[in-house]
Amino acid sequence: MDALTALHSRTSVNLLSEPGPTPDQLNNIFKAGLRACDHKNLRPWRYLVIEGSARQQLGQLMAKVKRTMDGDHLDPDLDAKLRDKPFRAPTIVAVIAHLVEHEKVPEIEQLYSAAASAQMMMVAAHAQNVGAIWRSGALMFHTEMQRGLGLASNEQLVGFLYMGTAKVVKPVPQLDPTDFVREWSG
Ligand SMILES: Cc1cc2nc3c(=O)[nH]c(=O)nc-3n(C[C@H](O)[C@H](O)[C@H](O)COP(=O)(O)O)c2cc1C
Repeated sequence: MDALTALHSRTSVNLLSEPGPTPDQLNNIFKAGLRACDHKNLRPWRYLVIEGSARQQLGQLMAKVKRTMDGDHLDPDLDAKLRDKPFRAPTIVAVIAHLVEHEKVPEIEQLYSAAASAQMMMVAAHAQNVGAIWRSGALMFHTEMQRGLGLASNEQLVGFLYMGTAKVVKPVPQLDPTDFVREWSG
């Protein structure tokens, strides 16, 4: 798939199954992430690959965070649902923003870069026919989640990129650039 076709046709894939991306595909995905725009080349990102039984640990962590948020109470059905969430895809990539103090690059720019890196990976997945969806949610921003994933105090979770084989592919929404673009002349 050529670059413009990939950029114009990417859609998120909700329903994913085995197999996940191959090591080569995953490497291409990370190489794309590393080409995100990045003021002063700070490389304000790192990635965690969560596959196989590690998804069980992630599900347990999600349930634990929810329990903490809800005052140590968790409905058994919700507990089971949260534990199951990571099994919606064979491969999950956690995108982490690694923020440093810099005289020219405020933290928000570094966060934008890390998010751009996630988007680059989404397109690279699609370009290789790897289905993917970027997921987040309130649990993600909780300190217990950050701690459980081993994030340092200067790091933030940008999102979980769920990847695998598409079961269903959505049609590409037909958006018209003229609805979003205006000339500005002061
Ligand atoms: C930062 C961020 C967080 C998101 N979190 C979720 C999420 O937790 N659950 C979800 O279903 N979609 C989430 N989405 C939206 C999907 O990734 C997707 O972009 C959306 O469903 C639109 O589909 P499309 O990408 O095919 O246009 C998130 C998107 C972004 C950018």
